Amino acid sequence: MFERSRRGESALLIQPLAPGQDDPSLLEEFAELARSAGATVVAQLTSRLTRPNPALLIGSGKAEEARMLCDTSGADLVLINHPLTPVQERNLERLLQRRVVDRTGLILDIFAQRARSHEGKLQVELAQLRHMATRLVRGWTHLERQRGGAIGLRGPGETQLETDRRLLAKRVDQLQRRLEKVEVQRSQMRRARLRNAVPRVALVGYTNAGKSTLFNALTEAGAYAADQLFATLDPTVRRLDGLRCGEVVLADTVGFVRDLPHDLVAAFRSTLAEARDADLLLHVVDAADPARDERMAQVDEVLHEIGAGELPQLVVFNKTDLLDPDMAETPGRCDRDEAGQIHRVWVSARDVAGLDALREAIDARFASRRAEAWVRLPIAAGRLRARLFEAGAVIDERNDDEGWMLHLDLPERLAQRLCAGEDARHHALDAQWLNAQPPCS
Ligand code: GTP
Repeated sequence: MFERSRRGESALLIQPLAPGQDDPSLLEEFAELARSAGATVVAQLTSRLTRPNPALLIGSGKAEEARMLCDTSGADLVLINHPLTPVQERNLERLLQRRVVDRTGLILDIFAQRARSHEGKLQVELAQLRHMATRLVRGWTHLERQRGGAIGLRGPGETQLETDRRLLAKRVDQLQRRLEKVEVQRSQMRRARLRNAVPRVALVGYTNAGKSTLFNALTEAGAYAADQLFATLDPTVRRLDGLRCGEVVLADTVGFVRDLPHDLVAAFRSTLAEARDADLLLHVVDAADPARDERMAQVDEVLHEIGAGELPQLVVFNKTDLLDPDMAETPGRCDRDEAGQIHRVWVSARDVAGLDALREAIDARFASRRAEAWVRLPIAAGRLRARLFEAGAVIDERNDDEGWMLHLDLPERLAQRLCAGEDARHHALDAQWLNAQPPCS
């Protein structure tokens, strides 16, 4: 059964390798994950999996080698970078005389340590319980098979197992209902934001790319940033000031990681929904990471999976301070695409360098296209009129018995939203209202 690893534990890492697979970055990333969970890596071992052993995953000779390595290195925890069946986990624990945690268990543990918001905590608990439930159920069927039928099984052991399963199912049910409620609240909040038509920018990127550091540097919010994977579990949403295009909302999101177990992606879908609802994605990349291209491709793949693949993207190459200063990749550099639009900006979030260039690039995305139009607002749309004034969009105004005629100058996307979106419906406006004829005089 999954148990949370305690901080400061000494861990032996085992990296199973499929035939022909020989990628040292797998073990490096796993070691990074282990450190994120608070473990100290004292020894590492790779194991070729020509034929995965159903009882232990790795071969019994390798398992013996692992046991000796645990003894000599003083490891009190074994982490395996591969999913384990409950049976394999139990057998390995017995053989190694230590707790064994697989990749999913380790990631869940990190999530559990990092969850800060109410929703994040509920989601982690739900994912943990689900992980546990498969283990309980499978452990149970395994027992059933061994004992050969129901007779003789109706002892206290069974009762305990049944009770555990029932309690687990009840808790899962309760958590699901709470999460549904939280999700409804969230989507209501999202709708309200859409009504306000404030552009949303979401920071996405591979874990440890520097999203939280950049978020802090841009918003001076002091959100949590640490040199650990997954430092951000809940999206933090703040206002991004100092832009010419007006108010923009910036959201930090959880970092992506290679092979994130699929059920965990599902558990965190509302966190990722922040990215799906964005008008612009800032794809933060650790420019000093030798595997940066591969990681960018992995992030893009996940974005496609969650339906955010087509959203406008601005790539932010971060950590320029770690690059060779003689190279042209200095903070503040902007690269333009064929259409002349900035699509890549180079910054150092740590040194707060290149951020003005980034702000300008964001500004350009939102402020470049503006719409000018006369609109007729009925008296019932007084609130909308007030908001347009607040947004500084009104150049001129006339009024008559039926309401107002406003001459607006506003970002095109805001105009589109007002015209086609929630606001028009909200105020029962005709879709034609936006291009009303200018009044004579
Ligand atoms: P997750 O929450 O795991 O997704 O990470 P993140 O992308 O939010 O990264 P975070 O901001 O927590 O930064 C990760 C590490 O990189 C921290 O140790 C930061 O101090 C460091 N870091 C961030 N930006 C820079 C930078 O511009 N230069 C250098 N040298 N380090 C940076």
